[in-house]
Amino acid sequence: MDGNGRWAERRGLSRLEGHRRGADSVRTITRAARALGIKRLTLYAFSEQNWGRPVLEVNGLMHLLKDYLLNEREEILTNGIRLEAIGRLERLPDMVRETLDELRAASSHNTDMVLCLALSYGAREEMTYAVQRIAERVRRGDLNPDQIDEHVLASELDTVDADLIIRTSGEQRLSNFLLWQSAYAEFYFTDALWPDFGKAELQEALAVYARRNRRFGLVA
Ligand code: FPP
Repeated sequence: MDGNGRWAERRGLSRLEGHRRGADSVRTITRAARALGIKRLTLYAFSEQNWGRPVLEVNGLMHLLKDYLLNEREEILTNGIRLEAIGRLERLPDMVRETLDELRAASSHNTDMVLCLALSYGAREEMTYAVQRIAERVRRGDLNPDQIDEHVLASELDTVDADLIIRTSGEQRLSNFLLWQSAYAEFYFTDALWPDFGKAELQEALAVYARRNRRFGLVA
């Protein structure tokens, strides 16, 4: 969800105002995704590396997250959406983690769509911790090194494979997002800044995706 800062700077507004408009897009895109029948939507809302941003911006983002979770609670619960979160959630301030945990638990039986927030997330970190857990299983004698295959590794990761990865704002890189899970994902890059990314832009991305020929290393 890139480009909030540039969206704001171009209008002479604060970066935080850009993030606020970005949160509006989160709402729009979640509704649109559900209406379009998407079963899982993962949003890269805050990376492990984002902790290095100015304290005021980090604090502002944390308050936005908490407000978002409180304001969207009813809509998430009544629309069959299950809220999940991936990343080092223990690094989040208590006010965010507690609100997040409550909504994850309250929505855990919903089955229409999963909305997964990547918070304090980094794919290299995710893979590192997965390897640590596998090493621990080996140390305990529960797993032989020659039993470690891609299924074992995948099962220790936080989330499943992605079909389509969308990045806004003209940047064409993954920035530590779902490195393992994107092995066979399709990529869609758009110049639209995240606050300008609405339902029509999502539909365009899906139309492009539908025309792609996914071969997974096989012949057509
Ligand atoms: C990247 O744009 C965006 C972020 C680091 C934060 C994303 C947060 C939101 C969309 C709002 C809060 C999230 C939820 C789930 C309610 P940038 O600031 O790096 O933009 P720039 O590259 O133009 O400076």
